Amino acid sequence: MRILVTGGAGFIGSAFIRLALAEANDLQIANVDALTYAGNLENVASVSDDIRYTFIRADVADATAMEAVFAAVRPEAVVHFAAESHVDRSILSPEPVIRTNLNGTFTLLEAARRHKTERFVHVSTDEVYGSIEEPHEADENYPLRPSSPYSAAKAGSDLLALSYFTTFKMNVSVTRASNNYGPHQFPEKLIPLMIANALEAKPLPVYGNGLQVRDWLYVDDHCRAIMAVLERGRAGQIYNIGGSRSLPNLEVVRRILAATDQPESLIRYVSDRPGHDLRYAITSEKLELETGWKPQHEFEAGLAETVQWYRDNAAWTANVRSGAYRDFYEKNYGSR
Ligand code: NAD
Ligand code: DAU
Repeated sequence: MRILVTGGAGFIGSAFIRLALAEANDLQIANVDALTYAGNLENVASVSDDIRYTFIRADVADATAMEAVFAAVRPEAVVHFAAESHVDRSILSPEPVIRTNLNGTFTLLEAARRHKTERFVHVSTDEVYGSIEEPHEADENYPLRPSSPYSAAKAGSDLLALSYFTTFKMNVSVTRASNNYGPHQFPEKLIPLMIANALEAKPLPVYGNGLQVRDWLYVDDHCRAIMAVLERGRAGQIYNIGGSRSLPNLEVVRRILAATDQPESLIRYVSDRPGHDLRYAITSEKLELETGWKPQHEFEAGLAETVQWYRDNAAWTANVRSGAYRDFYEKNYGSR
């Protein structure tokens, strides 16, 4: 199968490419990525010489570029990861989020429609459901109440993707995963930021009281779920993908401090994220029943592996934390 992966130089897209090429035969992958601040070709360096793999630098919101990509690659399937993925950045600057997450998805759907691409998996997020009160868990029919420009744009792109099934009979499925963690995650998200700071004995900024709850999913478990949806998911359907491991942020931070032998005095309570969702909770029962998928990684083991990866790859972290990253953090969070 010829697969066009978008955003494959980012955290989850690169894990998907590495895993798919390692485990599946009879596969060709074209990775189209604009290489924004979050895209890093080091994430796919291990497959760059694989003859089944090609990289194309292009913007998914550029219709002319996408037409050329589809004409050259002739994908049988699209797995669409490319997005502006960080909630805090979407609050500081919503414009690129709308452009990539909404317009980019539209541009890809149109290209796939024109080229009669057989399968389209749109990778989305549990954040579209917004904050969920105890003891409820969202299934795929739960109302959409996104809080941030990021999650609102993802919710819009989900609906757009599903409309291409309803209206144009395209073979589209939407996945909605919970918080991912694992190697190669850009150190702006909670777990990699806290690990990277802890390893350098820098302060760990906890928003508000730190009692917000997230469900944690190891990145390879997410990628296997996407593979299952690509192969066996039904057209027009949404599939939640959760790690079945809910924890308050403060507990996650404490475990990272313990794993890195650092004191809790490194914790800094900083001002809260505007519109901060208190709790995410989803059920993945539909995906489990239909495909047999289940998460394989216990949080404790996954976190230990992740901490070890950041210990072993200090140069990767130093590289992504230089230049534009440093300027961005000094400008926006310098007073922390
Ligand atoms: P990431 O920020 O690590 O990577 C995003 C990638 O997309 C980067 O390589 C970037 O260069 C590329 N990109 C951005 N704008 C682009 C554009 N206009 N054209 C082409 N490429 C572009 O993100 P991630 O954490 O790997 O997330 C991937 C997908 O998974 C996103 O759609 C996100 O919404 C979804 N998701 C993420 C999580 C999570 O916890 N990280 C959870 C659920 C769903
Ligand atoms: O739920 C899935 C979503 O998970 C994905 O769709 C997003 O792409 C991904 O970024 C992630 O969104 P979150 O906003 O939940 O992730 P983040 O790592 O930014 O924050 C996790 C929690 O930790 C959240 O409650 C905010 C808090 N936090 C985050 C950072 C970066 C802190 O307390 N301090 C921090 O410095």
